[in-house]
Amino acid sequence: MNATPCPGCGFLPSVWAMTTKTAHAVHQIARPAGFPAATDFARTSFPVPQPAPGTALVENILLSVDPYHRGLMDGREGGFELNSPLEGRTVGRVTASRDPGLAEGDLVFHREGWRTHSLVTLGRGGTRRLRGHEGVPLEAYLSILGGTGLTAYAALTRTAALRAGEDLFVSAAAGGVGTATGHIARLLGARRIIGSAGSAAKVRHLTGTLGFDAAFDYHDGPVGEQLAEAAAVSGGGIDVYVDNVGGDHLEGAIDVLREYGRIAWVGGLSMYNGDRSPAAPRNLFEVVHKSLRLEGVLVSNHTGLQDELEDFLVPHLRSGRISTDTTVVQGFDRTVEAFLGMLGGDNVGKMLVRIGG
Ligand SMILES: NC(=O)c1ccc[n+]([C@@H]2O[C@H](COP(=O)([O-])OP(=O)(O)OC[C@H]3O[C@@H](n4cnc5c(N)ncnc54)[C@H](OP(=O)(O)O)[C@@H]3O)[C@@H](O)[C@H]2O)c1
Repeated sequence: MNATPCPGCGFLPSVWAMTTKTAHAVHQIARPAGFPAATDFARTSFPVPQPAPGTALVENILLSVDPYHRGLMDGREGGFELNSPLEGRTVGRVTASRDPGLAEGDLVFHREGWRTHSLVTLGRGGTRRLRGHEGVPLEAYLSILGGTGLTAYAALTRTAALRAGEDLFVSAAAGGVGTATGHIARLLGARRIIGSAGSAAKVRHLTGTLGFDAAFDYHDGPVGEQLAEAAAVSGGGIDVYVDNVGGDHLEGAIDVLREYGRIAWVGGLSMYNGDRSPAAPRNLFEVVHKSLRLEGVLVSNHTGLQDELEDFLVPHLRSGRISTDTTVVQGFDRTVEAFLGMLGGDNVGKMLVRIGG
């Protein structure tokens, strides 16, 4: 019997050979030098697979494209293989199941992304059935109720342990983690919330729509100076910094943090496209002088908070006090465009792809 895996999907022939409908996937076909290009990717097609015992077939509905995908594209160990299926957070509906834990019609979260159809097993690789909350849009489960919101929630409630009445700064504030950070910090009773973002329109969105107290465009001048000016209103300081960017943002935050301030370091967007060694903060020793705490946040260490996150946020999503902030690109064929756009700052809120739109 032929045991050669399908070149497009990676499944063995016993899984795909009997099917006729066509599925699609995006593969990485070249290693980017610096900012990735559309030519680093290709679409492949393969027959829709049939579920083997213990697996379920999922027709995907929403795909997440994330900054961490860029870090997996360079060919380092543990990253993406060329011409192979990729991974990514995904929401879809079970259309056939031989997994006793999943039934046809179930909505599931899984990580077999960048493709239209996936085979999953409940509990394996993070696959879980969505709890589903009336009045909450599906997009929420890949944004504020997904890994994005969980990152912000863990950063604020565990790593930085934000207290009511404290002042906060968050970078990449108009993106997925950034908008979730703003909402959650407000619900936790933060006093002033300051954000940085990459355009005047995003700055207006932060202060005009999302209720940030101050915001600035990091292209408009030295980040440290702009942050110091924004923080001066709150008596010249902040208590917590949620860092999505690193580099000069981190240096500026160290300057304005008050004694016993906390930095929850979530990501390094200023480093992802080739520059792995931006200027390190020249003021790092201030961590000692001010008794600051700087701690990394890795969402995979906080998956146990998922139910707590949903219980905390769902009532506020239902009441409209907070929003599900997303930019949704319609159509699987635009997945690469969405990914590149996200890296370049096209998104407000979490960048998602809706298949079939
Ligand atoms: N540690 C974890 O477990 C974990 C989990 C999830 C996410 N993260 C991190 O959280 C951060 C935000 O992720 P996300 O999914 O919410 O993405 P996002 O913020 O929604 O999208 C990326 C944004 O990065 C900004 N950007 C691009 N280049 C930049 C640069 N050189 N300097 C400053 N900003 C830049 C762009 O917005 P502008 O227009 O504002 O430039 C873009 O919209 C990333 O660092 C990501 O790696 C970490």
